[in-house]
Amino acid sequence: MGFNFMTAAEAASLIKDGEIIGLSGFTPAGSPKAVTAELAKIAEEKHARGEQFQIGVITGASTGDSCDGALTRAKAIRFRAPYTTNADFRKAVNNGEIRYTDIHLSQVAQRLRSGFLGHVGTAIIEACDITEDGRIYLTAGVGITPTIARLADRIIVELNAAHSKNIIGMHDLYEMERPPYRRPIQIVHPSDRIGLPYIQVDPSKIVGVIEVNIPDEARGFHASDPITDRIGQNVAEFLASDMRKGIIPSTFLPLQSGVGNIANAVLSALGKDPNIPAFEMYTEVIQNSVIDLIKAGRIKFGSTCSLSVTNDCLQEIYDDMNFFRDKLILRPSEISNCPEVVRRIGVITMNTAIEADIYGNVNSTHICGTKMMNGIGGSGDFTRSAYISIFSCPSTAKGGCISSIVPMVSHLDHSEHSVNVIITEQGVADLRGKSPMERAKAVIENCAHPDYKQLLWDYLKISTKGQTCHSLSAALGMHQVFMMKGDMRLTDWADFLK
Ligand code: COA
Repeated sequence: MGFNFMTAAEAASLIKDGEIIGLSGFTPAGSPKAVTAELAKIAEEKHARGEQFQIGVITGASTGDSCDGALTRAKAIRFRAPYTTNADFRKAVNNGEIRYTDIHLSQVAQRLRSGFLGHVGTAIIEACDITEDGRIYLTAGVGITPTIARLADRIIVELNAAHSKNIIGMHDLYEMERPPYRRPIQIVHPSDRIGLPYIQVDPSKIVGVIEVNIPDEARGFHASDPITDRIGQNVAEFLASDMRKGIIPSTFLPLQSGVGNIANAVLSALGKDPNIPAFEMYTEVIQNSVIDLIKAGRIKFGSTCSLSVTNDCLQEIYDDMNFFRDKLILRPSEISNCPEVVRRIGVITMNTAIEADIYGNVNSTHICGTKMMNGIGGSGDFTRSAYISIFSCPSTAKGGCISSIVPMVSHLDHSEHSVNVIITEQGVADLRGKSPMERAKAVIENCAHPDYKQLLWDYLKISTKGQTCHSLSAALGMHQVFMMKGDMRLTDWADFLK
C-alpha cells in the first residue's frame, strides 16, 4: 500500500477549526514539532483574513515551544489539557485567553476514553519507525499516545530521524481497559513488562507521514546552588535516617522525583550520599541527573514516561544502548503514574512545592492563589499513593520577599492528609503521626526561614483556638502584603485584626 508522505504544512492543513488534536510525548521529549509549528502559521494566516481558527490540544504533559509556544502566539488554542511549562502559554492562561484544564496526568487517558474531554479528531505522533501493517515505534516520551492513537479518527506521523531506532524495544505500551473490564496492572517491580514495544493501529487511519530531522526542544537545568544542595542533603539524610530506623528496608524502595531544578539537585545529592544504597526509580520523568547516576551504578533501574534529558544526554543513551537497554523502560502516563502500582511497590515520592502551609497543605500550581505556574503534573498521582511523600522547596522565593512557608496555602493541590514530610534548606519537618498543632510547630521550627519564623509563631498567637488554629481574617495576610508592598516580611498581623 505505501504511506502518504507529505509536508508538515500539508498535514497541518488537514486539521479543521474547532477540532481537538491529541499529541504524543511527555514534556518536549517525544512531542511532535513540525505539524504544530505549521498549524500556527495557518492560524495566523486565517486570522489575518478574518477567519476563525482555534483548536483544542490534549497532550501527555508539557510540549516544546513549537507546540505550546507557537500555537499560543498564533492565538490558535481554545482549550488545552493537562500540563504545560511554556511562558507565553502561562501568560495567555492567566489573561483568560485560553481555557486550561489542569488534570492529574495518570487520569488523562481515562478521561479521554470516557469522553470527559471531547473527541480527538487527529492524533499527531512522533515516531522513529513505522511499518505498513500499522506498527508505530515511539521516541523519547510516551504520554497518552496509545489512547489517542486508538481514539482519533486520523493519525499523522512525524517520522523523526533525530531519534535513533536504537530506542526500539525500550517501550512497554499497555492501555487500560474501561471499567468494569479493567484488569489489575501486573507490575510488582519497576522493571516488569506488561505490554508491547510498539503501538498497533489500523494503517488506514494514518493519513500522512512527515519525514523530519528535528531534535527534542529539551530544556536545560540551572546549576545547583548552596540552597538546592542543602535541600538535597536534607532529603538524603532524612531517607538514610528512615532506613536506619527500619522504616525503609535496607534494600531501599523505588523513588519518584518531580520535575525542575530542585528535583534535579535532590537526585544528585541522593546519588552522592554513601548511606543510600543503589536504588530504582518508578517515576514519570527522567532528567539528566538520573542518567548520570545510572552510569555511576547508583541507580539500578528507571521506569519512566519520558527521557526528559538534554539532547547531548539523549544522544549518549542512543549511542550506548547496549548499556542502557536493560536499565530503562518507557511507559504510558497512566501506567508510569498509576496509583495502584505506586501504592503496591511502595514508591517514595519527592516533589517540589511552590508553597506549603504550617499544617502540611501544599500548593504546587498557583502563585499567590491566582496565577497558574505549570500545573499539578504527576505530583498528585504519586503523593496520594506514596509509601512516604516528601515535598521540598527553598524556604523563600524572589530574593527573600516571599516565604514558601505560610499560615494557609493560597491554593491547595496536596492536602495535609497526603503530605508526610516537608523539607527546605533550613531542615526537615516530619509530619507523620502528628496532630495539626504538632505539625505547625515542626514546620515553623524546622522549615521556615529565620526572617519569617517569628511572624509565623505570632500568627499562631492571633489564631482562634481549635483542632487547627487559624485567624480567618489573617490566614492569607502574608500573600496580601506581598501583593500590596512586594515583601511578606512587612506583614503586621494587627492590620488584619482591626
Ligand atoms: N511564590 C512566587 N514564586 C515562586 C514561589 C512562591 N512561593 N516558589 C517558587 N516560585 C518561582 C521561583 O521564583 C521561580 O521563578 P523564576 O522562574 O521566575 O525564577 C519558579 O517559581 C520556579 O521555581 P524554582 O525554585 O526554580 O523550582 P522548580 O524549577 O523546581 O519549579 C515548581 C518548582 C513547583 C514550579 C515545579 O516543580 C512544578 O511545576 N511542579 C508541579 C508539577 C509537579 O510537581 N510535577 C512533578 C510530578 S512527577
